[in-house]
Amino acid sequence: MRLLIAGAQGQLARAMIELAPSAEDVTAFAVGRPALDLTAPSSVLRTLADFKPDVIVNAAAYTAVDRAEQEPDAAMALNAQGPRRLAEAVERMGALLIHISTDCVFDGAKPTPYVEDDATAPLSVYGRSKLAGEEAVRAAAPRHIILRTSWVFSPYGSNFLTRMIGLARERDELRVVDDRMGCPTYAPHLAAAILGVARAATAAPHRGTWGTYHGAGTGSTTWCGFAREIMRVSGAHGGPSVPVVPITTAEYPTPAIRPVNSRLDSSKLTAVFDVALPPWQQGVAECMARLRE
Ligand SMILES: NC(=O)c1ccc[n+]([C@@H]2O[C@H](COP(=O)([O-])OP(=O)(O)OC[C@H]3O[C@@H](n4cnc5c(N)ncnc54)[C@H](OP(=O)(O)O)[C@@H]3O)[C@@H](O)[C@H]2O)c1
Repeated sequence: MRLLIAGAQGQLARAMIELAPSAEDVTAFAVGRPALDLTAPSSVLRTLADFKPDVIVNAAAYTAVDRAEQEPDAAMALNAQGPRRLAEAVERMGALLIHISTDCVFDGAKPTPYVEDDATAPLSVYGRSKLAGEEAVRAAAPRHIILRTSWVFSPYGSNFLTRMIGLARERDELRVVDDRMGCPTYAPHLAAAILGVARAATAAPHRGTWGTYHGAGTGSTTWCGFAREIMRVSGAHGGPSVPVVPITTAEYPTPAIRPVNSRLDSSKLTAVFDVALPPWQQGVAECMARLRE
């Protein structure tokens, strides 16, 4: 299987490219800007023609959730028009598109974890742009898998876990919101799940497997609970660790409104593809071990 990953420098793409060489049946390429720029149609066509992939994973996105409130056009260009362009090209070559989306397509009002068919109602520019991307992929490429994930963290670059560790070096305590729930997702666990989905979907290339799925770390917590687990694991290995004080979202206002309930029910992914992500706490432990190396 030839697998092309768009968004080479992102945390999910990096996790995928680290994992792929250990899989003998997969030849993986990650391509980023400028060679593959989703806002530049010619680069999309050229890259697909050069690599001739069987599966394309779109891990490229405008992910600056707060900045998107000021830059809606840029968010739409990358998260909606980019995937549409990619989906049209992928469909023409008969390949499979695995497009990564987000919990932010929901408004969070549901009291229980979201399933794939729940009504979408994004609260932010980012969420609206990602929802438009989903709709564009569905319209342009029947051979698609839209995989919504949430609260992605990894050893790479800036994300919630690496920011908490950095802040714990500078501060006596961390104040973290405790009234929003979600499923933290370790990028390498998500990468392994995507490889599993790609294998299963190409082995059984029929409509029964195409569609929308949720794929997030097993279990759920609040941002405060997530931070406390990071501090616990860090402290247990002699790393920075400070108390985490619970606060409300009202005490930490941000430009973009985020769902109060971001929890994703990933059971359809397991039922169809026999793929399940490990508990999010295992992701924290593995990520901290990687950072210690
Ligand atoms: N992070 C989360 O918590 C989270 C939660 C839910 C869903 N998701 C979704 O998961 C996916 C992967 O997220 P991530 O955290 O790995 O993202 P990320 O680390 O922010 O990486 C996004 C990548 O997109 C690339 N990119 C930006 N503009 C581009 C363009 N015009 N053409 C091609 N690539 C471009 C960036 O490249 P440069 O390095 O060149 O800027 C970057 O490598 C995204 O679809 C995101 O919406 C993420």
